[in-house]
Amino acid sequence: GKGEYDHYMAKEIDTQPTALSNTIEGRVEDGNVAFEDLPAGTFADVETVQFVACGTSYHAAMYGNQLLRSAGVRADVLRASEYDQTAGPVDENTLVVAVTQSGETADTLDAVRKATDRGARSLAVTNVVGSTAAREADDAIYIRAGPEVGVAATKTFSSQAVTLALLTQRIATDVPTATPVEDREAMLGSLADLPEHVETVLETTNAESLAREYFDSDSYFFIGNGLGHSVALEGALKFKEITYEHAEGFASGELKHGPLALVTPETPLFAVATGGDDEKTKTNAIEARTRGAPIVAVAPDDHPLADAADWQLSIPDTHPVWAGLLANVQLQLVSYHAAALLERPIDKPRNLAKSVTVE
Ligand code: M6R
Repeated sequence: GKGEYDHYMAKEIDTQPTALSNTIEGRVEDGNVAFEDLPAGTFADVETVQFVACGTSYHAAMYGNQLLRSAGVRADVLRASEYDQTAGPVDENTLVVAVTQSGETADTLDAVRKATDRGARSLAVTNVVGSTAAREADDAIYIRAGPEVGVAATKTFSSQAVTLALLTQRIATDVPTATPVEDREAMLGSLADLPEHVETVLETTNAESLAREYFDSDSYFFIGNGLGHSVALEGALKFKEITYEHAEGFASGELKHGPLALVTPETPLFAVATGGDDEKTKTNAIEARTRGAPIVAVAPDDHPLADAADWQLSIPDTHPVWAGLLANVQLQLVSYHAAALLERPIDKPRNLAKSVTVE
């Protein structure tokens, strides 16, 4: 049950430190990534990776895709519902990675079936043991987030992104042509601190006051670049899903190619900075601020964006790969509190189902 919490979503946000500890448990040893049942060398024949997913899982897949590409492995991230039209050439050296919390999403299952019909090898990254995706794929990796009841995916996004980040390092170790990420050691080393950093965010967040100030705005925009882009898209999806307010996420640099026309003093803009290369996020946030939009920097304390903003949602200093996940927790909290103020049925938003089993 939801115990002391008003909603499952609140519980699921709050229990992310434990979920993440379970996700990570035993998977990083001596600077190497190990997955149960998938011995070293498992991915040695892989030439191309295609991530397929929908909704929140697609945003987690974007994370994996960027990390894999930066390790020099050919990778793509495809909307599962568009797989037919966008997949391109596939063969036995293609690994299709289905990212699906439930393991039952029809669009995702269909994409995997189409890929395997054409000879691809498949891997399910899922939360549900024994789900259709886990049973049908050649291999499965579990994200170990524990059951998620709220329709809005929260802890499972965090656990998916961590699992995929680890998977990319596993694949990059196996694939002979890959070029290991430069600061791989630092990245894997700081993962151990992630659960504690999430705890810090949960204990110190000012998301409720922020939600109180802005919950009756016209629209909400979310921007970020690099890994921050996936967090911006996820922040906007969560916000619209449970508040019923208009929210959109963009790659920071895209703001000036159209969306800027919508920016007014009534459209708060959340700028996600990870402490990596956030230059575009900063310049575009300042551009929006010039048009009167309130700017919320989701950023570490010493970040230049924090000074330029009206509000800050603070994230602990850590490796940029994990910083995006901390920013996402802040955005989950903003959505939750805004939806609570608007008295929405948070765990069961209208028209939506936890797993979408129709195409
Ligand atoms: O079970 P899946 O991960 O395959 O579900 C995919 C999407 O339907 C899901 O992430 C959806 O976008 C969430 N309700 C978003 O919070």
